[in-house]
Amino acid sequence: MTGAAERAETLLNVEDLCVDFPTEDGVVGAVRGVSFSLRRGEVLGVVGESGSGKSVSSMAIMGLLPRTAKVTGSINYAGDELANLSYRQMQHYRNNEIAMIFQDPMTSLNPVFTIGWQLSEAYRAHHSVSKKAAWAKAVESLELVGIPQPDRRARQYPHEFSGGMRQRAIIAMSIINDPQLIIADEPTTALDVTVQAQILETLLRIRDETAAAVIMITHDLGVVAGMVDRVQVMYGGTVVESGGVDQVFDEPRMPYTMGLLGSVPNPNLLGTRLTPITGAPPSLMHLPAGCSFSPRCPLVIDDCHEAEPELAETDSAGHTARCIRWRELLEVSKPQEVFISQQLGIVEDPAVLLAENPELAEAEHIASMSEHAGQGTTEGTGRQ
Ligand SMILES: Nc1ncnc2c1ncn2[C@@H]1O[C@H](COP(=O)(O)OP(=O)(O)OP(=O)(O)O)[C@@H](O)[C@H]1O
Ligand code: SF4
Ligand SMILES: [Mg+2]
Repeated sequence: MTGAAERAETLLNVEDLCVDFPTEDGVVGAVRGVSFSLRRGEVLGVVGESGSGKSVSSMAIMGLLPRTAKVTGSINYAGDELANLSYRQMQHYRNNEIAMIFQDPMTSLNPVFTIGWQLSEAYRAHHSVSKKAAWAKAVESLELVGIPQPDRRARQYPHEFSGGMRQRAIIAMSIINDPQLIIADEPTTALDVTVQAQILETLLRIRDETAAAVIMITHDLGVVAGMVDRVQVMYGGTVVESGGVDQVFDEPRMPYTMGLLGSVPNPNLLGTRLTPITGAPPSLMHLPAGCSFSPRCPLVIDDCHEAEPELAETDSAGHTARCIRWRELLEVSKPQEVFISQQLGIVEDPAVLLAENPELAEAEHIASMSEHAGQGTTEGTGRQ
């Protein structure tokens, strides 16, 4: 693809996005210099622990932050600058061009109206069409999200839908206006990974039909394994690793990502967390000097405290990481090796430990998790 064609394909370009919340105790730097771009039809998985800035960055894109938030940087959507548009100015884009799926089926549907009526009204809010045409669109949306007998189902009320069906109805509501960008944010109370995997599957189907771009936000690396095109790992309000899904899963270049990979329970080890990352995420008001992961990093050296590492290109194109020691990770064949000493106490030589505990080395690679994510055999991870 030529440079010009590639630019034409770009739907969203976020540059140096920062969101500060002034509070009585000081300024919370919730998002710090986030940059990424998304092509039409591309699916991006955003992963990271609680409080890493995943929701605040997507709320900034949606123009849904409270007024106290100070937003800087650029959010370019299809050539339009969205950063700092007013709530009212964003109305044109919200739910029309850009849809956000809040994954709480009970609060997003009104119990006193039929599903079809609610979908039709959501469509009529942005299109001047007859009620009949809007109803047809409602039925079409239910069909798109995989609801059987959509004609009959449209005439039912939310309580007549199962939890999974309600979840699909919410997605139908979000996509009825044919958004070009869909953002699905898991709630703070982590949803069952099985449900998350089903949501992602539905979104992939919508992407195939409509060429919408999708951002899937989750704590759980297992949910996005093998499903998304690219992965962006967030830590302490910023991106610490980004790349194609295979690059990030097969060749992580940041110890934090390795910790997340190693902490996904391995089906062969009956859900054991092999390599928990010890300690807590940093306070966004008082970040540690230098690398924000340094207090928890098993590879930390003095140089890590000097300055926050840049998000720099690593050994393959499009694969970036924020770690001064990424080259040394090329030697690590399994993510578990990096964190193994933290799991099992003081270990002089991880290689010796692996030799003595061969079962630890038998961990299947993370890619296999994609097969298991939809089968309820895993539990939510990433939150330590
Ligand atoms: N209105 C606000 N005022 C002050 N701080 C806020 C506000 N909203 C969010 N924050 C802070 O911003 C940081 C990032 O929050 P965010 O909700 O983006 O995290 P997250 O990665 O989505 O976490 P989770 O996985 O729990 O949803 C947190 O420290 C949070 O406390
Ligand atoms: S820069 Fe240092 S502390 Fe930060 S992740 Fe890399 S090795 Fe760990
Ligand atoms: Mg969140």
